[in-house]
Amino acid sequence: MASTWLHFLCLLTLYLAGSHGQEGKFSGPLKPMTFSIFEGQESNQIIFQFKANSPAAKFELTGETDGIFMIEDGLLYCTKALDRETRAVHHLQLAALDSQGKIVEGPVPITIEVKDINDNRPTFLQSKYEGSVRQNSRPGKPFMYVNATDLDDPNTLNGQLFYQIVIQLPLVNNVMYFQINNKTGAISLTQEGSQELDPAKNSFYNLVVSVKDMGGQDENSFSHTTSVDITVRENIWKAPEQVEITENSTEPHPIKITQVQWNDPGAYYSLVNKEKLPHFPFSIDQEGNIYVTQPLDREEKESHLFYATAKDESGKLLAYPVEVHVKVVDINDNPPICPAMTVFEVQENEIVGSSIGYLSASDMDEANTVNSILKYKLIDQTPKVPSDELFLIEEYEGKVQLGKRSLKKQDNPQYNLTVEVADKDFQTLCFVQVHVIDINDQIPIFKVSDYGNMTLPEDTAIGSTILVIEATDEDEPFTGSSKILYKIVEGDPEGRLEVVTDPQTNAGYVTIKQALDFEAQPVANIVFKAENPEPLVSGVSYNASSYASFRLTVTDVNEAPVFSQRIFQAKVSEDAAVGTRLGNVTARDPEGLAMRYSLSGDRRGWLKIDSVTGEIFSAAPLDRETESLYRVRVVATEIGGSALRSEAEFHLALTDVNDNPPRLAKEYTGLFFCHPLSAAESLIFEVTDDDQQSLWRSQFTFALGRESLQNDWQVSKINGTHARLSTKHTRFEEGVYEIPIVLSDEGKPPMQGTVSLSVTFCQCVEGSCFRQAGSHDGIPTVGMAVGILLTTLLVIAGILAVVFYRMKKDEGKGNVENPQSPEAKPLRS
Ligand SMILES: *[C@@H]1O[C@H](CO)[C@@H](O)[C@H](O)[C@H]1NC(C)=O
Ligand SMILES: *[C@@H]1O[C@H](CO)[C@@H](O)[C@H](O)[C@H]1NC(C)=O
Ligand SMILES: *[C@@H]1O[C@H](CO)[C@@H](O)[C@H](O)[C@H]1NC(C)=O
Ligand SMILES: *[C@@H]1O[C@H](CO)[C@@H](O)[C@H](O)[C@H]1NC(C)=O
Ligand SMILES: *[C@@H]1O[C@H](CO)[C@@H](O)[C@H](O)[C@H]1NC(C)=O
Ligand SMILES: *[C@@H]1O[C@H](CO)[C@@H](O)[C@H](O)[C@H]1NC(C)=O
Ligand SMILES: *[C@@H]1O[C@H](CO)[C@@H](O)[C@H](O)[C@H]1NC(C)=O
Ligand SMILES: *[C@@H]1O[C@H](CO)[C@@H](O)[C@H](O)[C@H]1NC(C)=O
Repeated sequence: MASTWLHFLCLLTLYLAGSHGQEGKFSGPLKPMTFSIFEGQESNQIIFQFKANSPAAKFELTGETDGIFMIEDGLLYCTKALDRETRAVHHLQLAALDSQGKIVEGPVPITIEVKDINDNRPTFLQSKYEGSVRQNSRPGKPFMYVNATDLDDPNTLNGQLFYQIVIQLPLVNNVMYFQINNKTGAISLTQEGSQELDPAKNSFYNLVVSVKDMGGQDENSFSHTTSVDITVRENIWKAPEQVEITENSTEPHPIKITQVQWNDPGAYYSLVNKEKLPHFPFSIDQEGNIYVTQPLDREEKESHLFYATAKDESGKLLAYPVEVHVKVVDINDNPPICPAMTVFEVQENEIVGSSIGYLSASDMDEANTVNSILKYKLIDQTPKVPSDELFLIEEYEGKVQLGKRSLKKQDNPQYNLTVEVADKDFQTLCFVQVHVIDINDQIPIFKVSDYGNMTLPEDTAIGSTILVIEATDEDEPFTGSSKILYKIVEGDPEGRLEVVTDPQTNAGYVTIKQALDFEAQPVANIVFKAENPEPLVSGVSYNASSYASFRLTVTDVNEAPVFSQRIFQAKVSEDAAVGTRLGNVTARDPEGLAMRYSLSGDRRGWLKIDSVTGEIFSAAPLDRETESLYRVRVVATEIGGSALRSEAEFHLALTDVNDNPPRLAKEYTGLFFCHPLSAAESLIFEVTDDDQQSLWRSQFTFALGRESLQNDWQVSKINGTHARLSTKHTRFEEGVYEIPIVLSDEGKPPMQGTVSLSVTFCQCVEGSCFRQAGSHDGIPTVGMAVGILLTTLLVIAGILAVVFYRMKKDEGKGNVENPQSPEAKPLRS
């Protein structure tokens, strides 16, 4: 009886996998085996047929059968649907018995793995969740979780959950402030949420969150939703106010200066030394108190900037670090500092009140405060010969003056002064030496009053020494009374020459500082004057012996003409008439020779130049669309002589005029509609223009080229560059239609062009034009013939494919769809 119903079981619906049986998929001898079976299948499924060899007569099944697995006549089958969620793996034992019920083979293990189907819905553990988040929390850092379970196998798609925020309320400008990790259900702030959420504006948000199984990617996945209430709380993690610390503090360190606090307890604080100081003098404890650990020095660093961070136990930042600014307040802890060495010279006869020089000390404390303002006081003079108080010092400026009388070198040639320089708290002693020098009662006298004639070519190198001049002074050597400064007082207004004094010998070296120029100054009558840095005593003055002359003749070196500019520019409208004056170039020959102008590189022959005046004219019609910036070289050549020449550039910019009609943006070939039309059809085309101005380039108008077409066709503008050509009805015959279309731009003047779109109505196979019905004049072109050939071949291939398909399908189901029905049509709008 069992064998009768067994025949009705369709073996094909039995799922077997991983079977260890080698003899056959469905039957074999007794041996250990593993089977995988989907849960939820119909009952009474045959799993395997075990063959018994005598003396075995029957089998015995034991283990986790759960009353589901049976064996009868060697057929292992299940009597009920399996449920993976009840038991995922059944461990069975199978033994072969003889007719007396004695085990003759086995028992062997039989393992049944139950495969999952998606028969369980995901469910949130709570119907409502509540959470809170601090303002400005780090984006992406979870502040709460939602959690759903699904009994299906988490190792298959069936048990893979996908979380999603469905609704955020309120939602302003479509900006999501919250995000959810689609795998873990972790909810965090988005970038916008981190920046924009503000409990002062709105502190309460509600989310609807969904969970789907099948990884959320399947239409048949189950889903469940929950509601999440979120409170936004104020952020107390913020940068502290700027801290002021007085430098050089003597209090015991560390000293608490400020503090930061994370929104919740348990954060780990640290400081970041962004300025990479070698000794970072700040620290933080785990209450967020910030300390300075040692005295600071304003003169070393007057402000500090560092960051405080709060991290969780795993070392991840809880939020952005906050800045801590520390300003170091000055105290007067630096004494005034003297300059290295101060030496003043004073002449024997200088009168009372004469300024001898300035003492300038410095102070490192903060400028323009009482800590750095200095006062000078003269406290000692050595020797006090012929009397004390020969000098005065001005209290705030440090100016030293003669206080009592003129000095005499035979009284004493050198004084040492001690000056006390004081700021608010400190005094420093500075020393000044005063040298009494001979009076400047001798003038420098040139050894030679006329240095004669010299001839130099104008290209003599800059820096060349051309002459050494020398004067003598009988005053005390190596003082300001005998040192000589040479000046050129006549003959060199441009400053082409320069005289440098040798401090040891007092000789003056005349060098070329700027290039000589024959054309500007062929002959120079130069006058030198010799002077002392110290003033002359009264009654003595410089006379003719302190002056010397020199005659410099510069010879010409023939130089090429020089253009007044390296690049000449001109601009003209591209429709300028032939012969229009476009601009001019000018060059000058340094020697004043006559020149002629010519052009070089006029590739298009657009220009000509007047060889005498340098004026440039157009020589042919210009076209911006060919070249919008036309560059040529202009040449100036000396006439006669060495015919030296030089070049410059002439750039002609062409401005646009509307001289191009609109045209189709690309070639439209092979446009077709499938015949017969089932509905009105249309296609889109694009128009462009070669002119420059974007204004009328993007503003075209479109019209049908013939009135008579208006019953069948319509052209409608989409925007400035695109238009739609549509049929007005469906009653078109097969064939090729040429549709003339008039395009206009809105330039000044407007331009108009007529283009033609060629549209074929043909029968379609699988979306391609099938049979090329002859065009209106009835003669197919070569292209069409090839098209017909190709489509014919394609159709044959198609038919063969269909026949083949049908033959295969007939064994199974049957009913093939009609392959003739055109499915996809290009150009459908
Ligand atoms: C979600 O709930 C399950 C079962 O209660 C638990 O094992 C899992 O850890 C929870 N996940 C989260 C992120 O809370
Ligand atoms: C799930 O989230 C990950 C990143 O967290 C993302 O790369 C992935 O595209 C998301 N999956 C879907 C289907 O949105
Ligand atoms: C601190 O001040 C004392 C005088 O008050 C001074 O001697 C010392 O050099 C100062 N230290 C620094 C680092 O400025
Ligand atoms: C002045 O000081 C310098 C150096 O300190 C010393 O050599 C010189 O002898 C002093 N002159 C007098 C007149 O004291
Ligand atoms: C320098 O040249 C001028 C004019 O050429 C001439 O009068 C004068 O005598 C010359 N002087 C000397 C020193 O050669
Ligand atoms: C200029 O003055 C000096 C004396 O200071 C005298 O020797 C010289 O002759 C004078 N030169 C002229 C040209 O007067
Ligand atoms: C040449 O052009 C300049 C300006 O570029 C103008 O000042 C000058 O007069 C022009 N010369 C001629 C000869 O046209
Ligand atoms: C004009 O319309 C076409 C077709 O709709 C579109 O592709 C194109 O981007 C549009 N151009 C402009 C400037 O809007």
